[in-house]
Amino acid sequence: MKSKFAVTLSNVHKTFSGGNKPVLALQGVDLEIPQGEIFGFLGPNGAGKTTTLRILTTLLPFEEGEAFVAGIDVKRDPQNVRKSIGYVSQKGGADPAATGWENLILQGRLHGISKQIATTNAETLIENFSLKECIHRLVGTYSGGQRRRLDIALAMMHQPKILFLDEPTNGLDPQSRNNLWSKIFQLKQEGVTIFLTSHYLDEVDALADSLAIIDHGKIVAVGTPSSLKKEISGDIITIGIAKDAQDQLISLLHASNTLLKEIKREELELRLYVDKGALALPQILRLLDQSSVPFETIQMSVPSLNDVFLKKTGYSLREGEFQ
Ligand SMILES: Nc1ncnc2c1ncn2[C@@H]1O[C@H](COP(=O)(O)OP(=O)(O)O)[C@@H](O)[C@H]1O
Ligand SMILES: [Mg+2]
Repeated sequence: MKSKFAVTLSNVHKTFSGGNKPVLALQGVDLEIPQGEIFGFLGPNGAGKTTTLRILTTLLPFEEGEAFVAGIDVKRDPQNVRKSIGYVSQKGGADPAATGWENLILQGRLHGISKQIATTNAETLIENFSLKECIHRLVGTYSGGQRRRLDIALAMMHQPKILFLDEPTNGLDPQSRNNLWSKIFQLKQEGVTIFLTSHYLDEVDALADSLAIIDHGKIVAVGTPSSLKKEISGDIITIGIAKDAQDQLISLLHASNTLLKEIKREELELRLYVDKGALALPQILRLLDQSSVPFETIQMSVPSLNDVFLKKTGYSLREGEFQ
């Protein structure tokens, strides 16, 4: 079956039983990912991202629903799915006791590629993933960024058209992270469809053509980063204010004529959703000025993916908050 979608999931359920209580890891997941896109799968820890990826990469059976990868039924023909995909797990797959070069060649051989073609593919990947300086060293000596680049190169040895990356930049410093982002972009330019999971909002915002947000095993939003942000019309005014002073300010805001659409409380701030920030901000500043409510900061912003996440799930997905 040929499909314009690189990946489709329909009504996929996955329950982990075995512990005291069964875990409903996926509860009816539907997804369609067009070919050639970078697709971002965003969600907090425990949301079901890795479970979804393991199902799509044929590593995990599932009870209900259907999954197709490269037009191939994951349940019926897992072997052919495996030939069409590359997968980098959260831990990566390189052997630390071998050199990068040895890892690449072995990977090629495992895929049944001839030594000569494996060598050619490895040389291209070493160039593309900037691995020249470390390729003949033991992988155990690599930096986090080098290791991640090698992991992706390993997954690309058999030249798959679809690549699955599970939290590819987790734990990397900002420079290595940016570097890896550009490598992922490069793969997309070469026509590879990339399915990446992340709990970094900025990562998905920067990389993804489209995304889905998963929370507690359910998809809560699907769209492009900009279409999802547009759903939250207007602006957001964030006031840094201690929790015990929040009630006072909320009463003041309700009593005033300020055109608020919604107020959300967070630990150390209030987020005010307003239609026109440029009009509302001076009003709110005047109100704060006239009152004695102690506040720390005030700022206006356009909606971010965090606001989308907050709106869809009722809580914030800021980096580090849920780790
Ligand atoms: N092998 C397993 N046995 C039992 N529960 C599991 C197993 N793998 C994952 N889970 C549970 O399934 C849920 C989803 O996990 P996972 O897909 O790893 O989340 P994510 O990758 O989004 O952090 C979590 O509640 C997790 O604890
Ligand atoms: Mg995970």
